[in-house]
Amino acid sequence: MLRAHAVRVASEAAQLVADAREAALADISTKSTETDVVTAGDRAVERLIRERLDEMWPGVPVLGEEEGGRTPSDGLSWVVDPIDGTVNYLYGYPCYAVSVAAQVDGVSVAGAVADPAGDRMWTASRGDGARLNGRPLRVSGATRLELTLVASGFAYAAERRARQAAVWAALAPRVRDLRRPGASSLDLCSVAAGWVDAYYEHGLHRWDWAAGALIAQEAGAVVRLPGGPEDGLGADAVFVATPGIADALRSALIECGAGKV
Ligand code: IPD
Ligand code: CA
Ligand code: CA
Repeated sequence: MLRAHAVRVASEAAQLVADAREAALADISTKSTETDVVTAGDRAVERLIRERLDEMWPGVPVLGEEEGGRTPSDGLSWVVDPIDGTVNYLYGYPCYAVSVAAQVDGVSVAGAVADPAGDRMWTASRGDGARLNGRPLRVSGATRLELTLVASGFAYAAERRARQAAVWAALAPRVRDLRRPGASSLDLCSVAAGWVDAYYEHGLHRWDWAAGALIAQEAGAVVRLPGGPEDGLGADAVFVATPGIADALRSALIECGAGKV
């Protein structure tokens, strides 16, 4: 029921994302830095999602990127990124998504990531697997670090990006290749589908990973989220990998300085 509702809401929101692009780009402002943009679309989509969630689940707390909110430590709540990959949306690079997750006691139990440009709906519910357009998902079978395809991303603050880029440069010669598609929710889904073998990023917000990390986990990935046990990757690291290379990649990232970004 939670998954079905997340799918319904994300699907309607994705339609708005697609339809409203021209109008959305006519009204752009910036947030944490000059490169951290928000369009009228981000705000309109979050408004729509909040209205739909409230119709079905009145009074349930919602945390969303544009209007804020909170995640209670107990009980049901929703976590929403109305447009993940806003810079891609701005440029028309077809890699952005609507992310809607249900959490219980702060842990994701159902989620939907809707990709309007690719016409894809990624979903999961805890214990019941992950699906792409209804088809079950499984992570890749990678077992060798040097043949691992790794996705990552960068924060908006310039100083932090510089440190993240240093880790990325140190990792490059140790893996098959690196990807930076630009939408964390879709990076997580890509691990679930085996399109990449792993994904890591520091400084994500709960709305970036709440749905995608569950989708990756339900597809068989090892998932490490901010606030988890200290493992050398850095307190705010999201690290998601197919089990066959998770330990080797974690060690390589630590050697490359990931714990100090
Ligand atoms: C961003 C994207 C990007 C990631 C950033 C996020 P936004 O989300 O997911 O891939 O590298 O850390 O902030 O701002 O487009 O919703
Ligand atoms: Ca985001
Ligand atoms: Ca966003």
